[in-house]
Amino acid sequence: MSKPPQKRLYIKTYGCQMNVYDSERMADVLRPLGYELTSEPDDADLVVLNTCHIREKAAEKVYSELGRIKRIKEVRAEAGRETRIAVAGCVAQAEGEEIMRRAPVVDLVIGPQSYHRLPELIARTSRQLGERLAADFEPEDKFDRLPEERAVQGYSAFLTVQEGCDKFCTFCVVPYTRGAEFSRPPEAIEAEARRLAERGVREVTLLGQNVNAYEGGLAALVRRLAAIEGLDRIRYTTSHPRDMDEELIAAHGELEALMPYLHLPVQAGSDRVLKAMNRGHAAEHYLRLVEHIRAARPDIALSGDFIVGFPGESDADFEQTLEIVREARYASAFSFKYSRRPGTPAASMPGQIAEEVKAERLQRLQALLEEQRQAFNAAMSGRTVPVLFEREGRHPGQIAGRSPYLQAVHVDAPQRLIGRIVPVRITAAGPNSLTGAVELEAA
Ligand code: SAH
Ligand code: SF4
Ligand code: F3S
Repeated sequence: MSKPPQKRLYIKTYGCQMNVYDSERMADVLRPLGYELTSEPDDADLVVLNTCHIREKAAEKVYSELGRIKRIKEVRAEAGRETRIAVAGCVAQAEGEEIMRRAPVVDLVIGPQSYHRLPELIARTSRQLGERLAADFEPEDKFDRLPEERAVQGYSAFLTVQEGCDKFCTFCVVPYTRGAEFSRPPEAIEAEARRLAERGVREVTLLGQNVNAYEGGLAALVRRLAAIEGLDRIRYTTSHPRDMDEELIAAHGELEALMPYLHLPVQAGSDRVLKAMNRGHAAEHYLRLVEHIRAARPDIALSGDFIVGFPGESDADFEQTLEIVREARYASAFSFKYSRRPGTPAASMPGQIAEEVKAERLQRLQALLEEQRQAFNAAMSGRTVPVLFEREGRHPGQIAGRSPYLQAVHVDAPQRLIGRIVPVRITAAGPNSLTGAVELEAA
């Protein structure tokens, strides 16, 4: 077979880690067609925007980016070069028709469960043959029909094990954009993980919108993957408090490969708000869970997500969010102003909160979370932790990697340590990363 002509592919990724994984997989699907990745949209024959619908700001970015890409397309057309534009991801799923209407420059709209169909759809658009919108929900198809080969680079990789959500938190679009909960079979996941390990990957992060709702148990899956030669570190995200089972908690105390980091969003501290959010757990339940996890793994780095200004949230409710943060103690966290999402139950709830109030609450919450993050990092000083070095650092002679707690670590050390896990004595905690010195060379 002759080689297909070289074409250039530019992918811009918004949103969560699952989109990062999906973007890599789209590149894998397109590689056999001759598409090579470029970091410049100006030389791209195909532009893919992999979008996020979670908050209004995220969704609006797509349209401004499309304006920019449209101008690039026009300039390229003058030079006789064609540019095809595809919108993928959660905005594609949620408002595919609207994208087509608002942005005629778009050739193709493709939802997250249809990426295996990219080659076929691109061929159709080039022949002007009808179907330009693919937004089915068939995750089984997608995973079975994506190519086995993954062109991963580096030593840490994402691996989607579960998609979709059945929880229907009243503020959230994910159940509508990603569909129902679906778990990939463990055999397929293990095979993918083995191929990654063979390519030199030493750390995998298992992804799912509700990764700990993984069918058959996430703990069992983690144990299975921990047995793979060369795979030294396993992480997972995002977990829901309702699905945090005993086995998974126990695994944190038992499995060396399972990293002491847990992203366990609580969203708010007031039971009244949690109920209106349909989270399915109370504040006390969350705190007991955290206590339980710390009993199994005392040093675990706890991470979370928070929403301020959910409809009906009073000052007293918000104080309870600050309170749960003080009690749970976070190593890191993400916090957001509530964003009204079309089609979700909370969008039409009474008691929508004014922007200024949201902004003020967010500022107070973030100040507290930042204080906790700094305290967590400062406590690392003087400790020796294994660091997986992944890349060169910012300064010459420096290399950078991650601690087990997912902190960035910068060290003056030779580049040949990149790809290795090395004990590092932490000497200082800066605002965004730790610094230290290599203790001795191992692994
Ligand atoms: N599955 C994960 C979260 C996925 S979305 C979970 O259940 O925790 C990531 C985060 O975005 C959420 O945890 C939430 O904090 C935030 N988020 C979701 N919808 C939002 C909205 N309408 N406004 C503001 N933040 C939102
Ligand atoms: Fe959204 Fe809730 Fe599902 Fe998380 S659990 S994805 S916040 S609906
Ligand atoms: Fe955004 Fe979709 Fe992820 S809405 S957060 S890209 S699941």
